[in-house]
Amino acid sequence: MSLNLGEELNIFLIGFRGTGKSFIGKILAQRLNRKYIDADEYLEQKEGKTIKDIFAESGEETFREIESRVIAELCMQNNLIVATGGGVVLNAENVGRMKKCGVAILLEADADTLFERIKGDVGTKTKRPSLTQYDGYQEIKYLLEKRKPSYGKAADFVVNTAQISADETVNKIMSFIENYVKDTKDEL
Ligand code: S3P
Repeated sequence: MSLNLGEELNIFLIGFRGTGKSFIGKILAQRLNRKYIDADEYLEQKEGKTIKDIFAESGEETFREIESRVIAELCMQNNLIVATGGGVVLNAENVGRMKKCGVAILLEADADTLFERIKGDVGTKTKRPSLTQYDGYQEIKYLLEKRKPSYGKAADFVVNTAQISADETVNKIMSFIENYVKDTKDEL
């Protein structure tokens, strides 16, 4: 099924690592017949370096600056499905931009679920850089709590992906978007 939803609306998937942003983003893009962009992969291609290397060589602050430039660039396009990096909401400017050129869908899950999903993937030798001095589970607990207000403020719609299938998640997002577009048209 391909719905004709608001032509200009970008759909940004936000949320912590392991909430399913890339997985859901790809399915959503297929269902809506739209272009899918993984903001982290886009950033790595643009910089010619992995995020892990950017963190190691230049630090998180530099990564966040590049990340903001990426969001600004993506906002110059329309009709995209974008899986963002988990920390994109830490910068209010990013949030303002995403909301101006689209909607932000927050994917959530509890710390235990997230840990199960990403435990093989975080650490110095693997793809995802550590973001704190804490280990695995503790890092997730700590950052979820710390980022809760930022995720909450940024979200136009929230889906908890812990207990439901990918299809159900995508259906929820699609009905939200349909209503959102309808409401926006009614307001005009
Ligand atoms: C980060 C999450 C990562 C990536 C970077 C920072 C974060 O993206 O942007 O390592 O601060 O939570 P994913 O959420 O896609 O893993």
